[in-house]
Amino acid sequence: MFYEPGKTAHNLPHDPFKACVAPRPIGWISTVDTDGRPNLAPYSFFNAVHGKPPMVMFSSAGSMDSLANARATGEFVAAVAPKSMLREINFCSSPLPHGEDEFEYAGLEKLPAKCVKPHLIKGVPIHMECEVFQIVDLPSENPEKPCAMVIGTVVGLHIDDAIIRDGMVDITLFEPLARLGYQEYASISETFTVRREDFWK
Ligand SMILES: Cc1cc2nc3c(=O)[nH]c(=O)nc-3n(C[C@H](O)[C@H](O)[C@H](O)COP(=O)(O)O)c2cc1C
Repeated sequence: MFYEPGKTAHNLPHDPFKACVAPRPIGWISTVDTDGRPNLAPYSFFNAVHGKPPMVMFSSAGSMDSLANARATGEFVAAVAPKSMLREINFCSSPLPHGEDEFEYAGLEKLPAKCVKPHLIKGVPIHMECEVFQIVDLPSENPEKPCAMVIGTVVGLHIDDAIIRDGMVDITLFEPLARLGYQEYASISETFTVRREDFWK
């Protein structure tokens, strides 16, 4: 099949685009508003975009609070969502009114960050404390719901020692949750290694 998004129909019951870029890790994005009120929401348009310095992005397709808070305060924390907390992650995607605390709604405990105001989530093994580097506005079908990609520089990285084995983060001890094309999820329980030593000579 072939279609031109926005121009010709895909003729499938659901938009296939996200299934073509999968799995996507889920950033559980913690922010505060200018009054310090916490907000927490999952984003699967989330990824690393640079290594030195480490940078991550999340992208809001018209969701309001995380984007508005990151824009207003210049800070966010990206927790990498673990499979074990899928229930809480799902709770945090509820469209609560602005200012209502998803931590409380989902029964999550806040922990203080070291370099930024937004909170960490108790029980999550990886958190990235971020300062906003750039916000790239994206097309939106609804002017009342602006879409944008938020790029952050990681200024503090927390890794639970329990998921470090032989000096490396062991993804199988952590099982980050990934979003697939529709309502399905995946997680990694098995990995394999391919060495690149031929390239290093
Ligand atoms: C697993 C998962 C991934 C999601 N990814 C995104 C995303 O990448 N972009 C987005 O705009 N909304 C995404 N959502 C929906 C938002 O989490 C939801 O709209 C939430 O209410 C936004 O909250 P906020 O307005 O407090 O930022 C996702 C929801 C789930 C459950």
